[in-house]
Amino acid sequence: MGLDKLIGVDKIPFFPPEASTFAREIDVLYLVTWLLTILFLGIVVAMLGVLAFIYRRKSKADRSHPIHTHHGIELAWSIIPMLLGLVIFVWGAKLYADAYKVPDNAEEIFVVGKQWMWHIQHTNGIRENNTLTVPTGRPFKLTCISQDVIHSFFIPAFRIKRDVLPGSYTSAWFEATLPGKYHLFCAEYCGTEHSRMTGTVNVLTPEDYQRWLDQKGSKEEVEPKAVRAKTMEEEGQEIFETVGCSNCHTPDTTPRAPSLYAIYGKKRQMQNGEILTADRNYLRTNILQPNDKVTAGYEATMPVYQGNLTEEQVNSLLAYIKSLGTSEEPKPAGGEVKIKNGKVVKPAQAPKAINSTQGGN
Ligand code: CUA
Repeated sequence: MGLDKLIGVDKIPFFPPEASTFAREIDVLYLVTWLLTILFLGIVVAMLGVLAFIYRRKSKADRSHPIHTHHGIELAWSIIPMLLGLVIFVWGAKLYADAYKVPDNAEEIFVVGKQWMWHIQHTNGIRENNTLTVPTGRPFKLTCISQDVIHSFFIPAFRIKRDVLPGSYTSAWFEATLPGKYHLFCAEYCGTEHSRMTGTVNVLTPEDYQRWLDQKGSKEEVEPKAVRAKTMEEEGQEIFETVGCSNCHTPDTTPRAPSLYAIYGKKRQMQNGEILTADRNYLRTNILQPNDKVTAGYEATMPVYQGNLTEEQVNSLLAYIKSLGTSEEPKPAGGEVKIKNGKVVKPAQAPKAINSTQGGN
């Protein structure tokens, strides 16, 4: 019999359902902490009552030899609670580490918080509003960002909650275990409609999830209806070309600006000598505010995209940039640049428009 069954954690009616891999263990730890608190409260209150009764006024109890020091008792009430506290600490730290360490095989889902709704982007292009649809039995990584104020993405049934910040990505992960519909909340006061910034997590069996993914164009509709446009990479490539990234950031335009091919995850040296890693946060900042940190060897000529791209578009753009590889710099071939998924990007047009009309600084 496991500890969870022993303390009956599965029989407590007012707990949210346990629908993720770490929900049960978190509940057990919570209940053990709670039971220990009750136990020690009980001991203290019971002794208070008993001693108050024994030594009540006018009782005949022996008061002639009051105890001033008792090393045995003092050591016991110091060491036992300390050991129990350490057990809770180590146990809690392990669970915390498990909850934050995203497994390598986790699939990514993007969460954008905004006043006052949740927007979800799946890498295959499906978009959802205030609904998150996932299958059981597969780990998912949530990459979250806010487009205005601080929100907090909270799924009680999964026992996960992560702050969603403007200007910086945060992440969380889970693996759902139990099909069903669960609550999704914003757990950070974010303005007038905060309490209505809620939604539904729709956990499907792997088969239902596959049907949900495939439903575009099929007669059979699976709730909630999936809205799919292009994949994030395809949308990102379109943005890459339409907003002008491709004018300066392909391997054959490198005299003007660093190539974005194979940049993802690389170490970059800035003009001020600082070495930064080209991760999500770095790339996002350098798209929106490119002149704050300029790569060594280049001029600050890139236009500022802050306000011109939504967080969803940045997510797609980063998906595309990530798809350009992380290791080898592809070489320009005969004025045409081949990219990973086999499509060909035409060589850059004159970048004059960007430089002269919008100019860096
Ligand atoms: Cu968003 Cu509270």
